[in-house]
Amino acid sequence: YNAWLGFNRVESSKISNPYVDWCGRIVAAEKGEIFGTAAAELTRGIESLFGIRPLTSESTEGFRCITFGTFEGGNELISRTFGAEIRSTIVPEGYAIKTNAADGCIAIGASTASGVLYGVFHLLRLLGTGCSVDKLELVENPNNGLRMINQWDNIDGSIERGYAGESIFYVNNEITMNMERVRDYARLLASIGINAIAINNVNVHKYETMLLTDKFLPDVAKLADVFRAYGIKLFLSINFASPIEIGGLSTADPLDPTVRNWWSRITAKIYTAISDFGGFLVKADSENRPGPFTYGRDHADGSNMLAEALQPHGGIVIWRCFVYNCKQDWRDRSTDRARAAFDHFKPLDGRFHDNVILQIKNGPMDFQVREPVSPLFGALEATNQVIEFQITQEYTGQQRHLCYLVPQWKEVLDFQTHAKGGNPSVKRIVDGSVYGRRFGGFAAVSNIGNDANWTGHLLAQANLYGYGRLAWNTELSAEAIAEEWVRLTFGGDDRVVRTIKGMLIHSWSIYESYTAPLGVGWMVNPDHHYGPNVDGYEYSKWGTYHFADCRGVGVDRTVKTGTGYAGQYMGDNAARYESVENCPDELLLFFHHVPYTHVLHSGVTVIQHIYDSHFNGVERAEQLEETWSGLAGIVNEGLYEQVAERLKEQAEHAREWCDMINTYFYRKSGIADQLGRKIYS
Ligand code: GCU
Repeated sequence: YNAWLGFNRVESSKISNPYVDWCGRIVAAEKGEIFGTAAAELTRGIESLFGIRPLTSESTEGFRCITFGTFEGGNELISRTFGAEIRSTIVPEGYAIKTNAADGCIAIGASTASGVLYGVFHLLRLLGTGCSVDKLELVENPNNGLRMINQWDNIDGSIERGYAGESIFYVNNEITMNMERVRDYARLLASIGINAIAINNVNVHKYETMLLTDKFLPDVAKLADVFRAYGIKLFLSINFASPIEIGGLSTADPLDPTVRNWWSRITAKIYTAISDFGGFLVKADSENRPGPFTYGRDHADGSNMLAEALQPHGGIVIWRCFVYNCKQDWRDRSTDRARAAFDHFKPLDGRFHDNVILQIKNGPMDFQVREPVSPLFGALEATNQVIEFQITQEYTGQQRHLCYLVPQWKEVLDFQTHAKGGNPSVKRIVDGSVYGRRFGGFAAVSNIGNDANWTGHLLAQANLYGYGRLAWNTELSAEAIAEEWVRLTFGGDDRVVRTIKGMLIHSWSIYESYTAPLGVGWMVNPDHHYGPNVDGYEYSKWGTYHFADCRGVGVDRTVKTGTGYAGQYMGDNAARYESVENCPDELLLFFHHVPYTHVLHSGVTVIQHIYDSHFNGVERAEQLEETWSGLAGIVNEGLYEQVAERLKEQAEHAREWCDMINTYFYRKSGIADQLGRKIYS
């Protein structure tokens, strides 16, 4: 279960001598769990790459070596390699790596053990991708303080929106005893810089509510032990109604002193079991989950209560902003789900305690293949926040279709908010720098399960890998990340690298082109969300409509004639989205209801665009299959077959999407395809 940490053996003819020289010895003096992890990982990586087992010692004996340690840890090589100037540029989880020819070492220095571990993984990445290490001189600091993974795992072993088997954390209503698999996961996460994990679904049901109790806490603590060795803090998703469900109280009112007391006591108990417990992740008043609204309180009251319980122990509350009316009437055109997060949370800006972080989904709806960026980014000035992405491909092909999501995330992060009278991008808002916030960062829903390849679709591993790398360094390009992942996973053969990288890079656009058009979203089968169903959600309570009729399609979210959502943006963004002329094509139907004959910036009508993009999407999906077939006999046969099978299904399923959408719009509009292609009438 190594995934990208498998480190393919480098052919001996290709190993240059200096490599082996450096890698023959590891010098490390400091004691502690994470240092032990660092030494073990380095040893393991070197063994797989070069087939040699490095000697480890506490001091150098004049041989070349790799050494690591903290600046104050008493390792002489580290002290000599890194002067005060470099040290002062490194934040607690950052590190420096330098090839120190004079002392004959490659040195990895940091101010904390976690920093050392990240540095070790960086060096392994360099070795694993064949980079020269003779003249290294680099400094790395993470862009984001919090780099978190959310598991949507249930204690019965199922995973909400999981597409890669069952949970690795739970079996049959118990916490797993198979810590090996959990440890493998911790390794993968630490190798990409993840430092926090919430181990249960945000929808906290009856049994999961009991994770806080003596029944489960000792086993939760065992999971925390595994993650601690990799520098990862453990969080629990909690049920806001816990005081009632497991505490025997008659209320969960956040302003009730008995409730506050109950949370303080249970929190203290958690810290007795797990001294470095991270804190709570909360989904409240959303999709039928309990929350403060029941008691006439708001989200600041609810989260602050938990924050006070956690504060003495240094814990934090991560409170989700995915709050909307999920019992809407489709006849009611004035309610707009897209508005909900902003409407709920903007008025509360400044009321949250210092150890509360709001977790905001990247878009205003729900992880669609295309959505605008949530207008909350930039609008909250006095509130800690993290951005939430969905690595698991709920709406992007469920790991049966290929969809590399890093390009989508990059677009979101680079979006200019027009906040603060300037133009900071989302990435600078969420890292906390624009408004000088104490906490900031990334959270994302994991895409792994107990499948042997972790992610169902082997190539979906690139999304997990990419998420971590991007959370660490938002400046990395989607291409660079893809290339790293391919090299580490499949080795350095140029043809393999070029081919898989190309497939990854185009996959988001391919998926978008044969699914819901021009940003309107949904059009999927209700509940499981796989496959086309244009009107699947059209008359539902979920607030997810496209309003197609015989004249046109799209949601009017303008201030002038629609729901007013466009007005939640700042400056030019509001103006751009409000105007049907200036709205970007790819979001046109998210913001406007237009006739099928409306001409896009691209020069074609909306209806012709729908036909073109869908036919084209099918062709491109078929090309993916063909491109992959070029790697037969070049990549490992087992891996080749797995991917080939998924790509075949994708191509067939893309055809299903295309036919259904094209027929739907042909029937609605009565307008024929200008190119006369086959549309079923
Ligand atoms: C989506 C998803 C749910 C999930 C929810 C959430 O709506 O379909 O399964 O619970 O997001 O983010 O809380």
